[in-house]
Amino acid sequence: MTYLETAAQFYSEAAQTPQVGLCCVQSTPLQLPGLQIPLLMQEMNYGCGTTVHPTELGNQPTILYVGVGGGLEALQFAYFSRRAGAVIAVEPVAPMREAAARNLEIAAKENPWFETSFVEIRTGDAFNLPVADASVDIVAQNCLFNIFEPEDLNRALKEAYRVLKPGGRLQMSDPIATRPIPAHLRADEQLRAMCLSGALTYQEYTQQIIDAGFGQIEIRDRRPYRLLDAPTYNLPDNLLLESLDSVSFKVAIPEDGACIFTGKTAIYAGAETFFDDAAGHLLQRGIPAAVCDKTAAKLAVFNPQEIIITDSTWHYSGGGCC
Ligand SMILES: C[S@@+](CC[C@H](N)C(=O)[O-])C[C@H]1O[C@@H](n2cnc3c(N)ncnc32)[C@H](O)[C@@H]1O
Repeated sequence: MTYLETAAQFYSEAAQTPQVGLCCVQSTPLQLPGLQIPLLMQEMNYGCGTTVHPTELGNQPTILYVGVGGGLEALQFAYFSRRAGAVIAVEPVAPMREAAARNLEIAAKENPWFETSFVEIRTGDAFNLPVADASVDIVAQNCLFNIFEPEDLNRALKEAYRVLKPGGRLQMSDPIATRPIPAHLRADEQLRAMCLSGALTYQEYTQQIIDAGFGQIEIRDRRPYRLLDAPTYNLPDNLLLESLDSVSFKVAIPEDGACIFTGKTAIYAGAETFFDDAAGHLLQRGIPAAVCDKTAAKLAVFNPQEIIITDSTWHYSGGGCC
């Protein structure tokens, strides 16, 4: 049996017997006015963060959701798009497709605004998405890609890139590891399926996204996820896993490398407005300007006396202060 088959079997069981708290980091999922989330769906919250960013879902986008689980985030995305077929949910595990369909039927009874036609559940997997090139606004996946071996992760990311429209967004939530996970845990297929041993480090994870062609990454959230404690996992020291929410844009990679926004700002403390002719950055005296990590590093070297670079907040959602 391959590790992907082990994962499919694991999620087939998790579809039939909900495993409360399998992956989640918060007990209550994102609440929205007028949204009732069926109890069964809440019990099948197998996400490790959120990929649904309410302020970024205007204009009824088309969303391709990979790995539907119990249908929780498909329902939350549908809340914003509210039209037939706006959410295409791809799922290879038949019992999971059935569970999601059942949960969405219940949701339709509990939510007057929701119709089951808003979410179309399709058979498929992350490596063969059943939609045309450049056809969706958003691809979302929550706590799935971390279970893939690096070569398969690269395939899945390239497949997401293929189906996104130019400028489209890949919205993900995954565990990352604060140091490399040792081989004996990475080889444990059950732990991998449980989202506990496949995680890459932050640097490896973001590099994989860039290698698939995404030119800009924004980090929406980063928080503790699980502790792999030394005695249980046969480790020399405890190993903390974190959960990372990100949005990656299908835009060209700039010549000097991809932009990753982690919440850093640059503040000019000199006498006059600072203008970086080469890169076009304008810094007004005393006013924080959001900068990507690449620009932050360049500016810090360029003028360390007069340009202050603030730390990553890990909560970036665009723009500066005004
Ligand atoms: C950890 S669960 C996350 C479910 C859902 N995203 C959530 O937040 O509750 C992973 C989901 O991906 C599905 N899955 C497993 N292998 C997959 C693959 N190769 N391609 C797409 N989905 C897959 C599983 O059946 C399961 O529904």
